[in-house]
Amino acid sequence: MAASAAVALVAVGVCAAAFVIIRHQMTRQLDLSLAQTAAQVTQQSRGWGPTVGDTSCRFQAVPCVQIVPSDPAEDPAKPYALRVTDATRQVAAGQHAPYYSKLTVVGQEMRMFTTRLPGKHEALQVALRSDTVQRGVRQAAWALSAVGGAGVLLAAGLGYWVSRSGLAPVTRLTATAERIAATRDARHRIELPPGPPGREDEVTRLATSFNTMLGELEQSIAAQRRLVADASHELRTPLTALRTNAELLARADRLTDAQRDRASAALGRQLREVTQLVNDLIELARDEEPQPLVEQVRPADLAAHAVRAARGHWPQIAFQDHFAAETEAVALPGVPARISRLLTNLLDNAAKFSPPGGPVEVELTAYSGALELTVRDHGPGIAAEDLPYVFDRFYRAEAARALPGSGLGLAMARQIARAHSADLTAEQAPGGGALFRLSFPAAG
Ligand SMILES: Nc1ncnc2c1ncn2[C@@H]1O[C@H](COP(=O)(O)OP(=O)(O)OP(=O)(O)O)[C@@H](O)[C@H]1O
Ligand SMILES: [Mg+2]
Repeated sequence: MAASAAVALVAVGVCAAAFVIIRHQMTRQLDLSLAQTAAQVTQQSRGWGPTVGDTSCRFQAVPCVQIVPSDPAEDPAKPYALRVTDATRQVAAGQHAPYYSKLTVVGQEMRMFTTRLPGKHEALQVALRSDTVQRGVRQAAWALSAVGGAGVLLAAGLGYWVSRSGLAPVTRLTATAERIAATRDARHRIELPPGPPGREDEVTRLATSFNTMLGELEQSIAAQRRLVADASHELRTPLTALRTNAELLARADRLTDAQRDRASAALGRQLREVTQLVNDLIELARDEEPQPLVEQVRPADLAAHAVRAARGHWPQIAFQDHFAAETEAVALPGVPARISRLLTNLLDNAAKFSPPGGPVEVELTAYSGALELTVRDHGPGIAAEDLPYVFDRFYRAEAARALPGSGLGLAMARQIARAHSADLTAEQAPGGGALFRLSFPAAG
């Protein structure tokens, strides 16, 4: 509607302007030929030609010429054919500038030019029929109205066509968005017009990014469903074991003391494991680091603290730390508790998979502002086929199934690393064992 109205307005405006110009030009033409005739008559009146009272208004296409003296006493006996007013006398007397006027003579529309004959006290009046001009102006008005009307109709048609073809993708986009809102199903996509990518219009680009957004949404919904499914599956086994032990203890009168102690110890351990698992799940489900907890942290301090804690926790493992001197001062924004958690998970794994007494090397190096922390053990290492999966939730390599754990440690570690824009990777250490590499980008 707006586009049509704009185009229609322009069409009508252009026609109106053309009409005004045509009318002006035609009147000017008439005025010019009047002035020309007046000049000719002035030339002729030096020797011969019309004198006072002479009128020659009998013919249609011929200019009608009349000479009027300034003094009414000198008027001829015959009446004037063209109208004579005070202004005419003033022009004759030289007190008034030449002028153009309109008048009607025997029912004919005429345009008249009144000027002074030089050197005489007489005014020269030249009149021409203006009905031809008026007819021309009327014809032009009709023609222009027709053109303007056609322009308006064309604008309406074009506007309709543009809105149908140009806005159709928007309609499709709206419909898809409404369908998703109604069904809560992010699998819908907007159909894109065929054609090579890169040459699309804005609407197609909008639809493309809408589709991309839907893809992301679908993936994130799928990931959430998977997490819930995995979590409930993982919880089932320890809960079954818990129930068995609880049922066993309910009939404690039939058990020996030793059996009862064993069952209650197992119950306590399983409860701790389930609690840990649930806590890990809650932390994993939290995506972003809570902003108020972000502060400037020194990874070197956190690493030193984590190694100290691990030594207390795993007395049989020889933790060796090498922190480069230039790493001491490096600080970056982060949540200290979460980074500590990441480090603890790595150190726990290293200790868990190390042979008793085996060394675990923790190294911290800095190069041009970027920090890199490596944790290396001398255990069985990670098989090449497991490497791509160790960071998945609940993934545990075949060999690790006998050891305690739920397979959430590395998933959480990578999530924390990502939240701090750091990179966490695993590889096989040269000479056996696993090597985890955590690299923080250069600050700023
Ligand atoms: N240092 C390591 N040496 C050998 N294998 C490892 C090492 N660290 C991790 N893995 C492998 O990666 C898997 C996933 O590790 P992750 O820390 O996520 O789980 P977990 O240690 O089994 O359980 P959790 O940490 O939740 O108690 C492990 O089960 C193991 O197969
Ligand atoms: Mg672990």
